[in-house]
Amino acid sequence: MFKKVKRNWYIPKGHTITDFDKKILSYQNRGKLVPTPKLIKTPEQIEGIRRSGVVNTGVLDLVEEKICAGMSTLEIDKLVYDYTTAHGAIPAPLNYEGFPKSVCTSINEVVCHGIPSEHEILEEGDIINVDVSTILDGYYSDASRMFIIGKTTPEKERLVKVTRECLEIGAQAARPWGFVGDIGKAIAKHAHRNGYSVVRDLAGHGVGLEFHEDPEVDHYNTHKDGMLLVPGMVFTIEPMINMGDWHVFVDEEDGWTVVTEDELPSAQWEHTFLMTENGLEILTH
Ligand code: MF3
Ligand code: CO
Repeated sequence: MFKKVKRNWYIPKGHTITDFDKKILSYQNRGKLVPTPKLIKTPEQIEGIRRSGVVNTGVLDLVEEKICAGMSTLEIDKLVYDYTTAHGAIPAPLNYEGFPKSVCTSINEVVCHGIPSEHEILEEGDIINVDVSTILDGYYSDASRMFIIGKTTPEKERLVKVTRECLEIGAQAARPWGFVGDIGKAIAKHAHRNGYSVVRDLAGHGVGLEFHEDPEVDHYNTHKDGMLLVPGMVFTIEPMINMGDWHVFVDEEDGWTVVTEDELPSAQWEHTFLMTENGLEILTH
């Protein structure tokens, strides 16, 4: 039986084949999944995504400065909206597939996609993920951080720290001309040795010209190569790590909020990265 792999790479009519093309085609001919030409960003596109990332980082820095106990998550949403629009940009989540707010705020057992609300007040000991995505001049960037409200338990503190390490270790595992599958393999190893599980139902993703592009970046060990990593690709890594079991569900009432099934806490850190000849560069520093 012939195993079918999408033949994503092609040489546009009238173009002469380069060594770069030949290298990608050699992987494709060996049955590997390779990016489409659109996933390799031009220097101009990379600059656009980088500038978008600067605004995105400004938003997260502002949230970091202001976030405190007693604040509602709707106040965070307002900070995000006001800063983003004052810098000539658009919050990417707003109206994205019907999402009603400008940012995702996910507290404790909420894994991701929490919707800001005036009724949700931050309390001492909460851990919260604030996930910010920005469109500037048509270019998308995406990053999230965890914040600890006041002092929390040693258990939650360790979850936040190890999840951050998972992002760093996943990023280090991503090598040019390596594979997306290397990322999840490294993340899962670090999570499991710390007694945690990795959420499977949500993944990192290509980003830049759209909010969500290929490739899908799984954070667990799929035991598959996944897509070839080629210099010029831009994508997120955003591991969601659970203190308990990896199973999650989506709140039926709002259709967005993702929660752990066992209601134990979850943490997430995210950056947008550019693949270079020397490994990943963070575009949302
Ligand atoms: N920021 C999320 C991500 O990292 C996507 C959120 S979609 C939204 O991919 F609509 F909830 F904003
Ligand atoms: Co993302």
